[in-house]
Formats: sequence, structure tokens, C-alpha cells
Amino acid sequence: MTEVIKIEGGHKLNGTVEVSSAKNATVALIPAAILAEKSVVDIYGVPNIADVESLTILLNELGVSVDFNNDDHYKIDTTNMKNITMEHDAVTKLRASYYFMGALLGKYKRVKMQMPGGCYLGPRPIDLHLKGFEALGATVEFKQGYYDIYAEELVGSKIFLDIASVGATINIMLAAVLAKGKTVIENAAQEPEIIDLATFLNEMGAVVRGAGTNVITIEGVEELTGSTHEIIPDRIEAGTYIVMAAAMGGEVRVENIIPLHLEALTSKLIEMGVDIEVGTDYAIVRGNGSLKPIDVQTRTYPGFATDLQQPLTALLTQADGQSVVRETIYFERFKHAYELNKMGAKIDVNMPQAHINGPTPLYGTKVKATDLRCGASLVVAGLIAEGVTEIHDIYHIDRGYQSIVEKLTDLGANIWRETI
Ligand code: EPU
Repeated sequence: MTEVIKIEGGHKLNGTVEVSSAKNATVALIPAAILAEKSVVDIYGVPNIADVESLTILLNELGVSVDFNNDDHYKIDTTNMKNITMEHDAVTKLRASYYFMGALLGKYKRVKMQMPGGCYLGPRPIDLHLKGFEALGATVEFKQGYYDIYAEELVGSKIFLDIASVGATINIMLAAVLAKGKTVIENAAQEPEIIDLATFLNEMGAVVRGAGTNVITIEGVEELTGSTHEIIPDRIEAGTYIVMAAAMGGEVRVENIIPLHLEALTSKLIEMGVDIEVGTDYAIVRGNGSLKPIDVQTRTYPGFATDLQQPLTALLTQADGQSVVRETIYFERFKHAYELNKMGAKIDVNMPQAHINGPTPLYGTKVKATDLRCGASLVVAGLIAEGVTEIHDIYHIDRGYQSIVEKLTDLGANIWRETI
């Protein structure tokens, strides 16, 4: 018995869809909350997704109590928290479990943890995270599948990241907020989720400056306390619905967005000939049939997000001519292309790039969500395709998209879950 998502394609989308809060901010904020010393942290806008369930399990393992019954309000109480070895299955379910490394190291000066999991997008090393911890004075050991990271004390330091890694920037911030003295992260990642984390840490009493630029400065403090925070909207979920609307609108209003966070996408869609009207916190997308091919390269923020490359590729199968996507973040992030080809797409993958030859009619068939955004790309394709698309391994999709079936049903799609 397995649960699949089925989509009968060809139905126009119309109406309004509300974007949830950012998964990739949430998965950093929840581990960050444990830095609060014996107090209560309230986070609003927490999406109801499988990654949050996994993080809640990990918090409970640490003796942190969580109340997530009222809608999107997530209440964390660290009063009875204890430091234990992180080895629950949930560690291997999501990549972001490794944010407990920085947070536990920062708080207790020791963390023992299994190798974290997450989507396979090609090799995903964590060397920069570990080098950052070492620069703060920690010793890192890896034995029999477990990291053991410990320090007498953490002392602020200057850290230059060889790659502007989102994960390394966040993990070093988490370890540094309670370190002695000043930490400077150079070539830091500039993604909006990092600004959200810095805002949250500062609300808890940390002193973090420069988030959103490539130099982040952290003055260590003695203690962090409880706070209240509202998470920013999910730019990747928003982008996914915008792409769906470009493929199948009708007229779709995508609400609760920060337009600036989506400029790399909206400007590419405008280049393709998509009709988009952007307001203060919404975008209205009107599908108008003919689409031009484009070349796109994934880049760190504010460049074109690698997470949107996969949904966009599904749309590019409908453009009139050859498009090229080049991956500069995850060279092997092309598994979706093989699944799309099963549906009739003509995509030649020559990593790190793919040539998409359109327009090609797509046909519903059985496909597999090999990772989260591959799943999103298959939903886009399923909406376009003739007949019924059956998507397997949908737990990947449920890790990141809250109520995707309900949201698309409300827009007029014929989409449902089925246990087969
Ligand atoms: N890298 C290293 N060494 C490191 C860390 C990263 O070589 O120590 C490399 C990676 O292999 C990759 C590049 O640096 O080639 C960038 O990786 P980064 O660390 O920035 O990515 P991440 O933190 O692992 C986050 C998101 C991803 C998103 C990327 C890029 C979370 C939980 N994940 O991953 O989101 O694709 O940034 O923006 O925030 C998703 O949501 O589907 C997803 C995979």
C-alpha cells in the first residue's frame, strides 16, 4: 500500500492561492529556538509540513515541549531541555536536522549526532559547517556514523566561506551567538531565510548584524531568552504556484508573497511572455498560451533559485523552441528531467546543463518524485498533461508543500490522493 497523487491534466486554474510561510526559514528557526534558556518561544506562521513533524519529534527527544495545536502557532518551551545524542530516524529524514549541530554546540558546547539526511541532489558535503565550528574552537570527530563535536569554550573568529552556503552560514550563526566575542562570516549566504533567522535571533537577545549582505557579524552574548516571531512567506512555494499559473491560467492571484524575493523568477517569466502583474504582496498571473524559450542559470540569492529550476523546467517543455538551464549550485539536480521525459518531454541532460526542446505535448503516466522540487515539477507537468499522471514517493512533496492538493483543487485542478 502506498499513497500517490493523481492529477487529471488539462484543467485551467483560476482564483486565489495563499502562500504558506517559508519552509527553509522554519527549519532553521525551530532548531534556533532551543538556544533560549529555560523559556518559551512563540513562532507564528509555521507550515503544516512533514519537515516540521520531524523537527517536532527531535525537539521532544531533547525534552523540549511543543504545542502546535492552534493553526500555525508553534509554541516551544525549553525549561526541561537536556542534551542527548541525536539519533532518531527523524535525523535522517531531513537535511535541516543538522541545524541542531550549531544550536546544541552553541548552547552546551557539545553535540553528538548521526549523519543528517534530506533530498539527494548529488553530493551534499558539510565540510564548511564543520570548518566553521572548528574556527570557533570546537573539535570535530566522525566515528561510526556519528559526529561528535565539542569545545571547552567557543570563541568568536573570522570565517571565510569558500562557497556562500546557506546551511553553513546558518549553522555558524547558531553556534556563534553564544560564543565569546565577535564572529565575522565572510562570503556569507544572502538568502532571505538568513535575514529571517537573524531577526529571530536578535529578538531572542542575540546581536547579529549584516544578514542579507555577504558579511555577517555576530557579537556573542551570555544568554538568549524567549521571544515571538512571524515567519516570512515561502518564495519557493510562491514561485511554484506562479509557474503553475503560467502553465495553466486562467487568472491566478498568488497571495502572501514578498515580490522582491521572486524577481529572478518573475523577470524570466516576463522574458518568456507570461503576463504577470505584481502588487505589494501578491502577483496575478494570466496564462496566454504562447511561451518563448529562455536560457537560465541557477545562482545564489538574488539569482535564480535552484529550487525553482525544477518546476520551471516543466513549464519550459511548453515553450516554442529550445531552452537551456544550467545548474551552478547542485550539478546533478536533474532527476526530474528523466521523469518529465517519461511524460513526453524532450530534455537532453548533459550535466550541469539541460536542453529542453519544446513545445511537446505531455501525457499522464506513472512517475516518481525523486526529491521535493522534482515532485513540484511533476505536479506542474501533471496539470499540463493529457490524461492522468500518477506521482509516487509523494512523501518528498509533503515535506515542503502545505496542503498542495487542497490549494490546487481550490484553483480548479482535478488532483487527488489515492492509496494503491
Ligand atoms: N556545499 C559544500 N560544502 C558545505 C556546504 C555546501 O560544498 O559544507 C555546497 C553544496 O554541495 C552545494 C552548494 O554548496 O553545491 C550550496 O549549498 P548550500 O549549503 O547553500 O545548500 P543547503 O543549505 O544544503 C539550502 C536549502 C535547499 C536549497 C539550497 C540552495 C534548506 C534546508 N535547504 O540547502 O533547499 O536548494 O539551500 O539555495 O534551507 C529545497 O528546499 O528543496 C532545498 C533543497
